[in-house]
Amino acid sequence: MDWGIKNRLSRIIKDDGHTVMLAVDHGYFLGAVSKLEDPSRTIKPLLPYTDALMPTRGVLRNCVDASSDIPVVLRVSGGNSIIGEDLSNEEITVSMKDAVRLNVSAVAFSIYIGSKYEHQTIMNFARLVDEGMEYGMPVLAVTAVGKELEKRDARYLSLCCRIAAETGASFVKTYYCDDFEKVIKSCPVPVVIAGGPKLKTEFDALEIACEALKRGAAGVDMGRNIWQSEDPVAMIKTVRAIVHEGISFRKAQEMLNNLRSTHKKR
Ligand code: 5RP
Repeated sequence: MDWGIKNRLSRIIKDDGHTVMLAVDHGYFLGAVSKLEDPSRTIKPLLPYTDALMPTRGVLRNCVDASSDIPVVLRVSGGNSIIGEDLSNEEITVSMKDAVRLNVSAVAFSIYIGSKYEHQTIMNFARLVDEGMEYGMPVLAVTAVGKELEKRDARYLSLCCRIAAETGASFVKTYYCDDFEKVIKSCPVPVVIAGGPKLKTEFDALEIACEALKRGAAGVDMGRNIWQSEDPVAMIKTVRAIVHEGISFRKAQEMLNNLRSTHKKR
């Protein structure tokens, strides 16, 4: 691996091989999603517990302090909206030159395997990887499913992750699923998991983080299950302990409860 790519990646994936990424890129197709209406307000208290932030360039330029030394994984795909015809119709939305100008540590692009625009997203992803090689920029593949959340099983996700890695992804973002170890085994690059839409309880999100880490994930790239939770700081601190300290689900439940009651007393 090229030194520049290695160096940038090492800012995101820490020495223990793990990372806590905070996803705040949702506005690029969802608009002002609940609890991310004012991105600065959402992001600021969570940054101290975040290994890497995943915003769009608009949120980065307008809502994140430029003196922050947090590594950024910049969302560079888009071109659709939740009310549009097909979420998979994405293209590259940010030039590699602008990503370098923003001093980001990686760029993130969604591929939509099995969708109408599968070919377009894979080919654009391959182009991005080529440009990334030129500039020493790692590329994160997001195995997106659009509105079809039911697609998320091990057979499908392992197909997506493998195609992403074969095309040149430095790391991959996917969903947790039953038999997740199959996804990990067949993917030669690090895998981080998304949280997906807010789950019924915070414990459900902690459980998938624990299971994913146990089965070989490099970490999480969570958004809604952190900042839409009742106490986002308590939630990210607990997710951090799962990712970097390997605490059990039982310990994670205890930790979240304790943090929440301490925060309430303040
Ligand atoms: C969609 C995305 C999201 O914009 C986001 O990064 C996902 O985070 P979460 O599902 O944890 O809210 O990648 O494909």
